Amino acid sequence: MITTTGLTKVYRSRGREVTALDGVDLHVREGEVYGVVGRSGAGKSTLIRCVNLLERPTSGTVTVAGQDLTALAGRGPRAGSTLRQARSHIGMVFQHFNLLSSRTVQDNVELPLEILGISGAERSRKALELLDLVGLGDKAKAYPAQLSGGQKQRVGIARALAGDPKVLLSDEATSALDPETTRSILQLLRDLNRQLGLTVLLITHEMDVIKTICDSAALMKGGRIVESGTVSEVLATPGSELAAELFPVGGEASGPGRTVVDLTFHGDAATQPVISQLSRTYNIDISVLGAALDTVGGRQVGRMRIELPGRFEDNVVPIGFLREQGLQVDVAGPDADEQLVKEGAK
Ligand SMILES: Nc1ncnc2c1ncn2[C@@H]1O[C@H](COP(=O)(O)OP(=O)(O)OP(=O)(O)O)[C@@H](O)[C@H]1O
Ligand SMILES: [Mg+2]
Repeated sequence: MITTTGLTKVYRSRGREVTALDGVDLHVREGEVYGVVGRSGAGKSTLIRCVNLLERPTSGTVTVAGQDLTALAGRGPRAGSTLRQARSHIGMVFQHFNLLSSRTVQDNVELPLEILGISGAERSRKALELLDLVGLGDKAKAYPAQLSGGQKQRVGIARALAGDPKVLLSDEATSALDPETTRSILQLLRDLNRQLGLTVLLITHEMDVIKTICDSAALMKGGRIVESGTVSEVLATPGSELAAELFPVGGEASGPGRTVVDLTFHGDAATQPVISQLSRTYNIDISVLGAALDTVGGRQVGRMRIELPGRFEDNVVPIGFLREQGLQVDVAGPDADEQLVKEGAK
């Protein structure tokens, strides 16, 4: 539904160059909720602004719903209007809502319809329908200043839906909201995704957002996507940085001569009592040092850090057992890489 290939954006100002995007290949499937995470300055906002051509990419292509927007943005007398038309099918939600304070809630939602030249009666019908959809049917005549943050964002979402978009882009839509309001807005986005078949591309710095509503996720660093996939795929990737951020597990070995192992649960293994089976089968005591488990897409997934008595060499068999159960096993510690190489050679 959204594809970018080799997307590059270089900002030039006062003789300096900043490469905000450095060859981004993004693929968002129809009907999915796709989250992009990354540190400040990674290029997330630039990416989303390039996807709807608010920002013109330096090179590369952007295709949304089968339409090559970068080609539309090209030269020619009618390029601007065709691009505007295409862009009206892409909704955008902002962190700070961007509502007009002098207009009522209803008039804010009508604004994009006015721009599209829709008649007054039709605009009004559509706006009221959308306000109902986002749970604000009774606030049509209120002004933004009379609303809570969560309500303002609902208005922002209703406005984004005015052009019947197939795609909704969201840049930190919940960052200015408290945790409970965040949950209700995420639920609303999920509901819209399901009811309307809306494809959602969102940017967030909150890992909880990814875990709560995203089907797929990507990690950006220095203008590049360094990891991406469905949440299960990411979890199944050995040494995944994104998995470690999504499910952070802490905990240090309780002393020397012990083996610390990080287990990743995804798929069927998550429902098996593997830890107690391991303990019984090999008659060993296992300490859980840390765990981060969650339900993603209705399945239990997550990571757990456990400690086994004895050094790595003493635990090759139990570790093999864990792998056989379908768990992903990463041996932690300073020598971990060396150990894995040695083990691989066996
Ligand atoms: N208009 C601009 N002119 C020059 N440089 C810019 C411009 N917009 C962004 N940049 C630079 O591009 C890089 C990526 O910025 P971007 O806003 O995309 O990051 P971000 O991942 O959204 O960060 P944050 O999490 O803080 O919102 C940064 O180094 C930023 O300084
Ligand atoms: Mg940003």
